[in-house]
Amino acid sequence: MSNFLNLIIKRRSTRKFKEEFVKPEQLEQILKAGLMAPSSKRCMSWEFVVVEEKSVLKQLSACKANGASFLANAPIAIVILGNELKTDVWIEDASIAAIIMQLQAEEQGLGSCWIQVRNRNDAQGIAAEENVCELLNIPEGYHPLCILALGVKDEEKTPFDESKLKWEKVHLGSFEQTQAE
Ligand SMILES: Cc1cc2nc3c(=O)[nH]c(=O)nc-3n(C[C@H](O)[C@H](O)[C@H](O)COP(=O)(O)O)c2cc1C
Repeated sequence: MSNFLNLIIKRRSTRKFKEEFVKPEQLEQILKAGLMAPSSKRCMSWEFVVVEEKSVLKQLSACKANGASFLANAPIAIVILGNELKTDVWIEDASIAAIIMQLQAEEQGLGSCWIQVRNRNDAQGIAAEENVCELLNIPEGYHPLCILALGVKDEEKTPFDESKLKWEKVHLGSFEQTQAE
């Protein structure tokens, strides 16, 4: 099996991290991968904010009501922003950079999880985006798409089972709906 396919099979979302520091050279590799991500017209509409300060991680973990609390115990967050003033496809640019960084993290043996920020609210109904922008002094025009929680894994997840792939999602020639859908 190719190294790449092996990486794809192994990558699962990690939400439990050891209290170990991520080596600076590992973080650098991950950021390098993000900076090499393809973007529309090579406009590189993304920006990455790296957060390691415990108190800030805790506040970020409360940016939305659900699905972010584990960030308080992650050693690193990479907040991925898009610049709407640069391109109308900032969401696509930022998403691609995010997944490339997740794969690079996996390649280094680290765990990561995507935490959705765009279109999500906190428990009071305030936009998660607003909370993140205020906390990190993000200027006008930049939108946080997601936060990557990153660190040394403290949970083992089963790799993908290739026999369970949903091949019915693949349509040959034209869109054929199967009974299951
Ligand atoms: C667009 C997107 C948004 C996600 N948002 C969250 C989130 O807010 N919190 C979280 O814990 N996981 C989030 N995830 C991770 C998914 O829950 C996870 O990828 C999915 O359940 C499949 O599990 P796996 O990554 O282990 O294969 C998100 C993933 C994507 C692609």
